[in-house]
Amino acid sequence: MVCNCVRVRNFRNIAEAEVEFCSEVNILAGANAQGKTNLLEAIGYVALGKSFRTVHDEDMIRFGEECAELSVDFTDSQRRQNLTVRMMPGRRRRIEQNHVKVGRVSEIVGQFRTVLFCPEHLSLVKDGPGERRNFLDVALSQLYPVYLKRLQRYNQILRQRNQLIRSATDDPKTFRETAEFWSCQLAAEAAAISRYRYRYLCEAGREIAACFREMTGERETPGVAYAGSSKQPPEEYEDEEATLRVYTRLLTANWEREIAAGSTLWGIHKDDVEILLNGKPARAFASQGQQRSLALCMKLAEGAVCRRVCGELPVFLFDDVFSELDESRRSYLSTKLKGRQVIITSCEPDVAAGNVILVENGCYRPAGKIESSPARFTNQAD
Ligand SMILES: Nc1ncnc2c1ncn2[C@@H]1O[C@H](COP(=O)(O)OP(=O)(O)O)[C@@H](O)[C@H]1O
Ligand SMILES: [Mg+2]
Repeated sequence: MVCNCVRVRNFRNIAEAEVEFCSEVNILAGANAQGKTNLLEAIGYVALGKSFRTVHDEDMIRFGEECAELSVDFTDSQRRQNLTVRMMPGRRRRIEQNHVKVGRVSEIVGQFRTVLFCPEHLSLVKDGPGERRNFLDVALSQLYPVYLKRLQRYNQILRQRNQLIRSATDDPKTFRETAEFWSCQLAAEAAAISRYRYRYLCEAGREIAACFREMTGERETPGVAYAGSSKQPPEEYEDEEATLRVYTRLLTANWEREIAAGSTLWGIHKDDVEILLNGKPARAFASQGQQRSLALCMKLAEGAVCRRVCGELPVFLFDDVFSELDESRRSYLSTKLKGRQVIITSCEPDVAAGNVILVENGCYRPAGKIESSPARFTNQAD
């Protein structure tokens, strides 16, 4: 998958821009606050229908403007395509695929696939479970369109069920009549989603282990395990009916506790991913360097699994991470990224070998190719 060109209007500090990319390494270089991350955010927004920085579309519209428009030309293994999104505060977004209007964002997610890696992801191992669930959701939504639809449905049912739980004391009649219905609906979605998550982690786990050993030369073996809120034995997720039974029981037999808590206590919104090093929780036992290596491996694994499932690599979007990595990880990453398209943002144009685009005040200017990263990086002590 290659992002050939992005066109942006009234997005963040970008009044109007058209930026072309080569199919290998691209470096968006410039001083702070010039619009490097903004352009990456624009590309990521078209891929996922949401920003990795904000949940409010209004934040992204250029100050003083009414609407923003983002358009990406990309090539997948089949053909050249275009996705365009126009956002207007207070109104529905307009989304077009190949200039034909699309009804819902879930119809375009998974068409143009990206893997984003930003400095916050370096703490994926030690952050709260929400970040790890988000990692799964972003990866799986791009691989399986039905996953995103089920997740959206799950969240909708969860909201209904939480509302019902909170009104149980005031309106016991409605509660009695509808509680079981919502629980069974929620259990069905939870069981399906948890099976996707379980299988994804089995695949990604193998990639992460291979990548970690290659990168660090360490003998420690990492592992990732799905820690579903149902607490059933991991292999049991292979069994669709058993998984559904477990969730149905949890969600129909614990009303007192859930009413006391005022919310739904089991379900995929409570899941976690356990990240292990030599069988021990990496969050508690791995060094900070190892934790960062693991996070990097998780992102590379996301790309590898994508290639296995969809038959082609995603576009890698690396926001400011090169400068956060030490020399050994940086050089590993540079070799690993050969033959893939990657768009890197950096204050230094020579952070890696590649095609440089200079960024200044929301403007983008091609500045030729840097053939190899300079000696100061290769000689730097670890
Ligand atoms: N909605 C907006 N309208 C205009 N400018 C914005 C908007 N949102 C952010 N900015 C500006 O974008 C700049 C930050 O751009 P960013 O791409 O994050 O910087 P960097 O080049 O360091 O990655 C800041 O100057 C900020 O004021
Ligand atoms: Mg930035």
